[in-house]
Amino acid sequence: HSSTLVLGIESSCDETGVALVEVGGSLAQPQLLAHALHSQIDMHRAYGGVVPELASRDHIRRVIPLARQVLEQGGRTLEQLNVIAYTQGPGLAGALLVGAGVACSLAAALDKPVLPVHHLEGHLLSPFLSADPPEFPFVALLVSGGHTQLMQVDGVGRYTLLGETIDDAAGEAFDKSAKLMGLGYPGGPALSRLAEFGDAQAYKLPRPLLHSGDLDFSFAGLKTAVLTQVKKLGGQPCDQVWADLAASTQAAIVEVLVKKALKALDATGMKRLVVAGGVGANASLRQELNAACAKRGVRVHYPELHLCTDNGAMIALAAAMRLQAGKAQARKDYAFDVRPR
Ligand code: KG4
Ligand code: ZN
Repeated sequence: HSSTLVLGIESSCDETGVALVEVGGSLAQPQLLAHALHSQIDMHRAYGGVVPELASRDHIRRVIPLARQVLEQGGRTLEQLNVIAYTQGPGLAGALLVGAGVACSLAAALDKPVLPVHHLEGHLLSPFLSADPPEFPFVALLVSGGHTQLMQVDGVGRYTLLGETIDDAAGEAFDKSAKLMGLGYPGGPALSRLAEFGDAQAYKLPRPLLHSGDLDFSFAGLKTAVLTQVKKLGGQPCDQVWADLAASTQAAIVEVLVKKALKALDATGMKRLVVAGGVGANASLRQELNAACAKRGVRVHYPELHLCTDNGAMIALAAAMRLQAGKAQARKDYAFDVRPR
């Protein structure tokens, strides 16, 4: 049996990612041969957030050069590709259309099959590219800018939703609180950097649904509480005050994520936790989860730090793993469709 070479294209939001993954044949694990990423963060920063129209236009500029780059880095040619995978959603409609359109056009021109991929499945499976890949089954904590979910994962394509946010996502809580504190975009990393210098006990902020008995989350109230504090502070308080508020905000988000993840482990009886999505890059979350899980004999797996946020590698990998598990078939069906929600 020969191996399968997958080109993956991610363009759901503000990162253009392209990657080359090889799977099957004599390979025990899917191999990431090359990946390239262009972040639009600098372009959107001036607007305080992602401008969808600009995002689409920039994906158009970047995607072909990035594809050339990964083929060259991976030492492969277009003709050698077996499958072209792309993010079908969720994400910004116009941005998704760029990746889908390019993937399907390339595939049509080359007479190769395509495979649409769910962005969250990409995040979910991304730890399989790490030096310490997980084994099934596990509990997954998916924490991105748009989603916060706990899932039981029994295998590729065998996902049971255990709980999710009823309003804002964890990444949104970071981003919106950061914005209220004048930290700009993207707020999550900025808030967490500032939090390093602050006292997490300084402000009492709510931990919504912490004791709700279920595995759901709610972060909208936190943002309101942060706004109340910001208003109380007024004007331009000293740096230490902002650092304290940042640390307190981060602590509130992290505590809820950790406690609910532990609850999901208890509920399922599982001893393995996988954390994925942009907020999985948060150092405080990793530290708290590692400590709590070590105490309980639970192993925690993360994606490589640079593969926590959006990238093409996770899309190529998810496609490769679905093909390998017989959960999907790549088709020469170029009538592409995107699913923003
Ligand atoms: O997974 P991702 O790149 O995109 C989505 O699919 O949403 O996640 C982006 C989110 C943003 O909300 C960003 O602020 C957050 O992840 N994020 C962080 C950190 N790095 C990224 N939040 C907290 N701490 C970080 N270090
Ligand atoms: Zn994402």
